[in-house]
Amino acid sequence: MCGIVGAVAKRNIVPVLVNGLLRLEYRGYDSAGLVVVHEGKLERVRSAGRVAELGQKSANTSGEVGIAHTRWATHGKPSERNAHPHMSRELIAVVHNGIIENYEELKAELSAQGYEFTSDTDTEVIAHLIHSHYAQGSLLVATQMALTQLVGAYAIGVIAADNPHLMVAARKGSPLLLGVGEGEHFVGSDMSALLQVTRNVVYLEEGDVVEIKADSFRIFDMAGVRVQRQMHVSELDNDSVELGKYQHYMQKEIHEQPQALANTLESVCNSQSLVPGIFGAEANDIFPHVDNILILACGTSNHAGQVARYWLEEVAGIPCNVEIASEYRYRTSVPNPKTLVVTISQSGETADTLAALNHAKATGHSYTLAICNVPESAIIRQSKLRLLTRAGPEIGVASTKAFTTQLAGLFLLTLVMAKVRGRLDETREQQFLHELRHLPTAMQKVLELEPQIAEIAAHFADKHHALFLGRGMHYPIAAEGALKLKEISYIHAEAYPAGELKHGPLALVDKDMPVVSVAPNDALLEKLKSNLQEVRARGGELFVFADADTHIHSSAGIHILQMPEHAGFLSPILHTAPLQLLAYYVALQKGTDVDKPRNLAKSVTVE
Ligand code: G6P
Repeated sequence: MCGIVGAVAKRNIVPVLVNGLLRLEYRGYDSAGLVVVHEGKLERVRSAGRVAELGQKSANTSGEVGIAHTRWATHGKPSERNAHPHMSRELIAVVHNGIIENYEELKAELSAQGYEFTSDTDTEVIAHLIHSHYAQGSLLVATQMALTQLVGAYAIGVIAADNPHLMVAARKGSPLLLGVGEGEHFVGSDMSALLQVTRNVVYLEEGDVVEIKADSFRIFDMAGVRVQRQMHVSELDNDSVELGKYQHYMQKEIHEQPQALANTLESVCNSQSLVPGIFGAEANDIFPHVDNILILACGTSNHAGQVARYWLEEVAGIPCNVEIASEYRYRTSVPNPKTLVVTISQSGETADTLAALNHAKATGHSYTLAICNVPESAIIRQSKLRLLTRAGPEIGVASTKAFTTQLAGLFLLTLVMAKVRGRLDETREQQFLHELRHLPTAMQKVLELEPQIAEIAAHFADKHHALFLGRGMHYPIAAEGALKLKEISYIHAEAYPAGELKHGPLALVDKDMPVVSVAPNDALLEKLKSNLQEVRARGGELFVFADADTHIHSSAGIHILQMPEHAGFLSPILHTAPLQLLAYYVALQKGTDVDKPRNLAKSVTVE
């Protein structure tokens, strides 16, 4: 979490820093700050509010080198005193994303040396450490020396008051990119922060330290050896990170789903058959040896895994377990070398998922596959196989298009596994490919329900709780709908498999408890209808997202929203969109900050 931007140029870089931070606010938004070197002094501006406020406060600040930060609080509450950059004796300034695990120890040592601490953060020790080494060497060497003392994860930017044309940056465990401009250089936590100035980017590797001037840069690896890293030209365009005609990023991203699905499925849909190679060249050798699948993920990505379990067991006939990444890594499990360990992550940098992946590898799992939206992310790099979802940048904190594209990727895994295991004949393969090709169009039609959904949202605005019901592979979709509603409208929402209703949650149902149900036309429909009657009989108001061919009709207390078409195995993907829209319109009614819900952040790089 936390976003970093830094710049060295021959012009005032404050607007670049502020614009970059605006792009990175999804990573954290409880305070922000920047520092520049101006006339031999560090000039720092911080704000306990949003980046826009920092922009106003720094309108008269200028400098040709500077670093900036938007924060998601870990150590120390959100306040101006804890906002980055942190400084040491008006000489060294640091911004940091990550966690320094041994900061208490270092703080005690530095305090004994006479350093004063003015914040509750772990970051301040980095500034003082660099300061303590600065007298003996350059900013580069002092930073390198300090880094050897740190335990934990970091991406940092460092500047010094007496060095108005130099920045040092480093990363280990947290992402950092180097942007290469003409006669100017930048660093940023992701590409969206740098697009305003350049498309040329170097992905810094684990342990890299880079010394940056306006005209040049030098990269050193963990051992201090100078290295060359490849420069890439980013394919991201500025439109993909602009709001355009939409009111919120979440709304934009919900509407981008047809295109995001088309992009994710492009290579497969253009071919005549499915091959393991879409997951990487080694998949041809690995997949035939796999006898079960373990999916590890957090939050929304975990819900995608839960849907995939139904697909993998039913279509591919392969046993599948899905675990919350943060739980898996701390329990004693029985490793099986024939397990394919699948991590799912939008960002590719979620600390819990990354740690679970490393735990799986350490216990003897060598078959690893990442389904991820960010190329070059840690999870991608550390997995043997990969499938990139091509959802484009997702900025709204509540995940939408990342989820449906993850589902599309997981369905491809299901089909390839089924084929490898001899459970997918040519006719069925062609039929599934046909359905996948149609998926973006089907999603577009579902989005046309938006006005009807906006209307029913009014029923939720004054409610404090909501129940979401689903059955089978739609139960995780109900769970995802409940998660969306609680994340952005702050209404307490829980999901249950509809059959569980009578075993407890029915006690909660009354006229103040709206019940949302996902009702595809599948083998469980009749059972679901009985569960819905149980709700109605207790005065509960029902909101049912029913398939085109289900014969459920609206009546007193039952609001039916008819889906345009029935999609068989792909139905969970399509049933997701109305629930996203429902959460969105309820949040609008409640006037919450849709894209930046309180206390949350998009990529959670701490445990
Ligand atoms: C955070 C986000 C969620 C996301 C989860 C996992 O909690 O707010 O929206 O689902 O992290 O993130 P990942 O990037 O690993 O999918």
